[in-house]
Amino acid sequence: MRIVVTGGAGFIGANFLNLFVPRYPQHQFINVDKLTYAANLASLQPIADRPNYTLAKIDIVDAEAVNEIFARHTPDLVVHFAAESHVDRSILGPREFVRTNIEGTFTLLEAFRTHVKSPSALFHHVSTDEVYGSLGDTGHFTEETRYDPSSPYSASKAASDHLVRAYARTFKLPTKITNCSNNYGPLQFPEKLIPLMIMNVLDRKPLPVYGQGLNVRDWLFVEDHCEAIWTVIERGELGGTYNIGGNNEVRNIDVVHTLCRLIAEETGTPHKELTDLITYVKDRPGHDLRYAIDASKLKRELHWSPRETFDTGMRKTVRWYLAHRDWVEQVRSGEYRNWIEANYAAR
Ligand code: NAD
Ligand code: TYD
Repeated sequence: MRIVVTGGAGFIGANFLNLFVPRYPQHQFINVDKLTYAANLASLQPIADRPNYTLAKIDIVDAEAVNEIFARHTPDLVVHFAAESHVDRSILGPREFVRTNIEGTFTLLEAFRTHVKSPSALFHHVSTDEVYGSLGDTGHFTEETRYDPSSPYSASKAASDHLVRAYARTFKLPTKITNCSNNYGPLQFPEKLIPLMIMNVLDRKPLPVYGQGLNVRDWLFVEDHCEAIWTVIERGELGGTYNIGGNNEVRNIDVVHTLCRLIAEETGTPHKELTDLITYVKDRPGHDLRYAIDASKLKRELHWSPRETFDTGMRKTVRWYLAHRDWVEQVRSGEYRNWIEANYAAR
């Protein structure tokens, strides 16, 4: 099978490739990635020299380049991860989100429609639970929940989901969509809550918690997400949508306390020295209060459930960041630092 993976140099895409390139040597994996600030080729070092892996540095909005890749490889499967993915960035500069997430998905769908004719082919679209908007204190998102996105990021992902469904209905394209909750784990760019807090703890910098830290996210270990995607690709219903979640609802402040406890244990630092770094900062505009996923369809129909609990996954994550200072240093020395200084300095 020839598999085009878009955004394979980002957090989830790299975890996906690191898992499945070695597991399926009979499949050819083509990583289509623009290599934006969020990409890191060091993340792909374990598979970079494998004969069944290649990288094509391409912007998914560039129709000519995308068509050329699809014409050359005629993929049997497209797994579409590439996106601008950070909510705070989408508030500070939404244009790139509209461009990559909407126009990029459109460009890929058009190329798929033109070049891929095999009846067993599949376009798998990777999306987020943020398309459903915010929950109050109770309830869960199901696959039937009405779309109600709050941020430019989630609105652009919602639009991309609609395009995928429209292409399935109108042009009979073979597609599937998964909507997943917040991921965490190795290789995550440290603008997102968990790696940002880990890096700030290691630097003894303030831990900036928005509002009162009472917003709730449902956290899923990244490898569990990747396995769930593969399960849906293999056995999910054509044209279907599946929610993926960890059944791990945690308030942000409790995430930060868990991290402080784990890092204190792993490094032998007094716990209080770390929790003293917690700083409450101005809330994010349009901040969704709570996300909670009902992933029972995936469990019932495809017998998937996550392997990691929040505790085991968080410990693995903390250990990974402590053991990979080189990866952290590389990220910290680059564009990341400029962006943090330009946009987060005033918090
Ligand atoms: P990321 O920001 O870490 O990586 C995105 C990757 O896409 C990078 O390698 C980047 O270079 C690439 N990319 C960006 N613009 C591109 C373009 N125009 N052309 C080609 N490549 C481009 O993102 P992530 O956290 O790995 O998320 C991957 C996907 O999963 C996204 O579609 C996101 O919406 C979805 N998702 C993420 C989460 C999460 O918690 N991170 C949860 C649910 C769904
Ligand atoms: P984030 O990792 O940006 O993911 P998302 O906004 O897609 O859920 O944020 C997770 C939660 O953590 C969210 O409620 C915002 C909060 N947060 C902070 O409190 N401080 C921070 O510095 C960041 C980046 C996020």
